[in-house]
Amino acid sequence: MPTYDLIVIGAGPGGYVCAIRAAQLGLKVACVERRETLGGTCLNVGCIPSKALLHASHLLHETHENFEKMGLMGAKPKVDWEKMQGYKAETVGGNTKGIEFLFKKNKIDWLKGWASIEAPGKVKVGDTVHETKNIVIASGSEPASLKGVEVDNAAGIVVDSTGALSLPKIPKSMVVIGAGVIGLELGSVYARLGAEVTVVEYLDAITPGMDGEVQKQFQRILAKQGLKFVLGAAVQEVEVEKGKAEVKYKLRKDDSEHEIKAECVLVATGRRPYVTGLGLDKVGVALTDRGFVQIDKHWQTSVPGIYAIGDAVPGPMLAHKAEDEGMAVAEVIAGKHGHVNYDIIPGVIYTTPEVASVGLTEEAAKANDRKIKVGKFPFMGNARAKALFQAEGFVKMIADADTDRVLGCHIIGPNAGEMIHEVSVAMEFGASAQDIALTCHAHPTCSEAVREAALACGDGAIHA
Ligand code: NAI
Repeated sequence: MPTYDLIVIGAGPGGYVCAIRAAQLGLKVACVERRETLGGTCLNVGCIPSKALLHASHLLHETHENFEKMGLMGAKPKVDWEKMQGYKAETVGGNTKGIEFLFKKNKIDWLKGWASIEAPGKVKVGDTVHETKNIVIASGSEPASLKGVEVDNAAGIVVDSTGALSLPKIPKSMVVIGAGVIGLELGSVYARLGAEVTVVEYLDAITPGMDGEVQKQFQRILAKQGLKFVLGAAVQEVEVEKGKAEVKYKLRKDDSEHEIKAECVLVATGRRPYVTGLGLDKVGVALTDRGFVQIDKHWQTSVPGIYAIGDAVPGPMLAHKAEDEGMAVAEVIAGKHGHVNYDIIPGVIYTTPEVASVGLTEEAAKANDRKIKVGKFPFMGNARAKALFQAEGFVKMIADADTDRVLGCHIIGPNAGEMIHEVSVAMEFGASAQDIALTCHAHPTCSEAVREAALACGDGAIHA
């Protein structure tokens, strides 16, 4: 008899959630993790530490920009970088220890070390081969490299997202390569901490794939906060000399060559699946042409009994998508029906204001010849957002032109990342825009703007 029903490889949000759900369903579970702490990229060097820095730098920004406007006078705080790093480490530590507690509570064995799959049902960690009925690969992703650019996180000059969370000091100037989620979140952290930040992006718009109106307004707001943008620019090379970096790029419109010097360069040009060293070729687990683990509708790889989830498989690289897949695959392995609705996965950028979206964008709906109506409401008409000095954004709701069914929603505004879930739940229940419009929303809340956007899909918003 194998020792385990399930061995999960990787303890990030996909892997640890899978392990917990499987244990709750009565399976004997182990999870292999080589890091000293559980939680994967998200908890250790991703979502959680970046949110700590975003929170601290947001409060600093408030004291400098908005306190006096509210009659809060006094000396403006200065940054103690070492202490801020300590606060970040404590935030991370509290969360990773929480997962350890949950593992103990659910009697999940943490196998510390590197896992490689010897054969279906056999996972080697260190010198021991563990036997299991099922394997879930939840090995995550790593920053993608960029030709001509060498990342050295220890030196702190050319860094990826991991290095950018622990810079030796706050740089005076920073170039961010890539105007995606990582580049803009961390770029805005350092801009608020006093760095002069320039974002160089290959495409002609920031945040690829987002609603076009949100992209434009988001760029305007970030520019007002001091971020500079060079769009349509392909970075060719980064040179480091005497502790300073020079970023060389070509403008796509005319092939002209330019360069910018900076104390620090953050390379944020995407992530790639992390599947090397797992022995996948040995056991015949097929990969896609882009290097992701190929799976079927039940997250099973080309080898029966071996499943894969999260950043290692195709789809958006989001912690919550991985968590959903983790729960679903655990259900499947336990003989139940696991399900993930890939059409309703929210995406959030945790800048100030936040940007959040779920479902179809206007552009995607039109590209599919789908007849839609758009209800928009600006936060200028929302009392709560105005009191927060965050009234520059809007809520944009997309509904089917004939049935009024909500197809998507895009929010740029205060707490957008919390508000989006109202729309996600509505979409899960197949709600119409009118259903949201007829639901009483407490006043004064930012969520009233969601209702107003829903009203704007019908007879019209009240406060616009
Ligand atoms: P991304 O794919 O979101 O953005 C990368 C950007 O770099 C793109 O806009 C691309 O056009 C640009 N780029 C690529 N090569 C370039 C070059 N040579 N010169 C100039 N620009 C270039 O990738 P990012 O921001 O690194 O994030 C990676 C993953 O992590 C994403 O899937 C993201 O969703 C996820 N993530 C999500 C977070 C959240 O949900 N809040 C936070 C952090 C990461």
